[in-house]
Amino acid sequence: MKSAVIIGATSGIGRELSFELSRRGYKLGITGRRTPLLEEIRDSMNTECHIAEMDVTKTDEAREMLLKLIRKMGGADIIILNAGISGNRHDVVWEDSKKVIDTNVSGFTALADTAWNYFLSENKPGHIVGISSVAALVPNGGNSIYNASKAFVSRYMEGLQVKARKRNLPILLTDIKPGFIYTPMTESRKGMFWVSTVEKAVQQIADAIEKRRYRAFITKRWRMIGWLSRILPTSLFRKFAP
Ligand SMILES: NC(=O)c1ccc[n+]([C@@H]2O[C@H](COP(=O)([O-])OP(=O)(O)OC[C@H]3O[C@@H](n4cnc5c(N)ncnc54)[C@H](OP(=O)(O)O)[C@@H]3O)[C@@H](O)[C@H]2O)c1
Repeated sequence: MKSAVIIGATSGIGRELSFELSRRGYKLGITGRRTPLLEEIRDSMNTECHIAEMDVTKTDEAREMLLKLIRKMGGADIIILNAGISGNRHDVVWEDSKKVIDTNVSGFTALADTAWNYFLSENKPGHIVGISSVAALVPNGGNSIYNASKAFVSRYMEGLQVKARKRNLPILLTDIKPGFIYTPMTESRKGMFWVSTVEKAVQQIADAIEKRRYRAFITKRWRMIGWLSRILPTSLFRKFAP
């Protein structure tokens, strides 16, 4: 039985992905700050599921907690780094920006590094999945800190991909870039387009993981934005950015 850890599984994409992977027969380890929600998910799973309360912004504790959870599970094949928050859409406020950096950048990196070293120390094939965003590719006047944090996630994943290939390590990195998906994060968001249900999105995420893709746009039509971001001049994106 394959096993996967999902960091940030109490709501939205992480929650639905837990159910999708359980349906596909995975043993799971799920985390988040809201333990009652983790318990509820665990109790409605058909496959073995372990839980760990974890705040990714408390990086030292979170790293220890991840290794403890993996030990409880008897090992992990896939570690999915999904925890993330959005930023302040209107004002530029350091306290808000710091929260995004602490979660989406420091929390992400602390756990990506821990996952990488776990697979290295076990000397076994491993798979790290980072949930980035299409936002990584384009500027955003409204929520610049969020887009910048996701650009960090994608570029870091790319770097680890290169490192794994150059050193011939059996660690696979998958960079997932969702567009808009209906979740608690986007509940009050206006002006969204090509919005996907979370159910459809997690099916495509699970497929990308099982097909061992290096990167995937969710849903697939967002590939077009990826392609346009490569061929159009940045000045155009700056002009039409939200
Ligand atoms: N929805 C979209 O349209 C969309 C598009 C592109 C990318 N994404 C990305 O997809 C990921 C999931 O987003 P979502 O839409 O599913 O949002 P969500 O429903 O708000 O879920 C966010 C998850 O992250 C966890 N989390 C947040 N801060 C945390 C912290 N400090 N420590 C531990 N866990 C934390 C939350 O758990 P607790 O609150 O229990 O800790 C929750 O399980 C995020 O990385 C987001 O940036 C979303």
